[in-house]
Amino acid sequence: MPLLSVNIDHIATLREARGTPYPDPVHGATLAVLGGADGITVHPREDRRHIKDRDVRILKQILTVPLTLEMALIPQMVDLAKEISPALVTLVPEKRAELTTEGGLAVAGVEERLRAELQRLFDAGIPVSIFIDPDKTQIKAAAGLGVPFIELHTGAYANSRSPQEEDHEFRILAEALEFALGLGLKVNAGHGLHYHNTARIARLPGIHALHTGHGIIAHAVFVGLERAVREMKEIMRG
Ligand code: PXP
Repeated sequence: MPLLSVNIDHIATLREARGTPYPDPVHGATLAVLGGADGITVHPREDRRHIKDRDVRILKQILTVPLTLEMALIPQMVDLAKEISPALVTLVPEKRAELTTEGGLAVAGVEERLRAELQRLFDAGIPVSIFIDPDKTQIKAAAGLGVPFIELHTGAYANSRSPQEEDHEFRILAEALEFALGLGLKVNAGHGLHYHNTARIARLPGIHALHTGHGIIAHAVFVGLERAVREMKEIMRG
């Protein structure tokens, strides 16, 4: 069974929607660990729309499980990674206007442009993963850059609109996984995984860890809402 690293970005999204100090993603991380999370993942975006530097710094201090930093490969984020020294950096493409990471990082053909900042991470001894579409050309290019990990983008699988499409995307992921393992890469997977589509991915042999966020945080709202209302009624009753 793969490890589960829980992405807590969307606790911060809720906090930023009101500009309040709560809900604090740091608090959420401690609860996720109590629930069995093997790791915590955060994506401090360039515009800091949800996770802030303060969150990352406190998480690094208090977590008892590995912290993964998802980030764009830009000098400012490499500086933050070097300060924090997370257990893993996962490189993602980032567009300001996107709601979430839309695709894997296209590395084939642009390796030279990536090397300088990548080398700064290597020199700092930070293990690096590249979030990548399940595409053999991209996987080979990632392996050529010398990273120990890739993360297969499960979005196309998760967003399938029919069982046939899901089967098709699942086969593409399974083949990409086998190919990457054959190149000696360690393989994570994630994006869009939810309660109805994770079991099949978790059973694929050889996946190191799943990185899952939105589905878990969304489910937490529902499994927690009844108790939250009951507690408010108790306060009202005095
Ligand atoms: N992996 C990567 C590289 C991501 O960018 C994200 C989204 O931040 C996830 C996993 C988690 O995706 P989701 O929130 O859909 O579970």
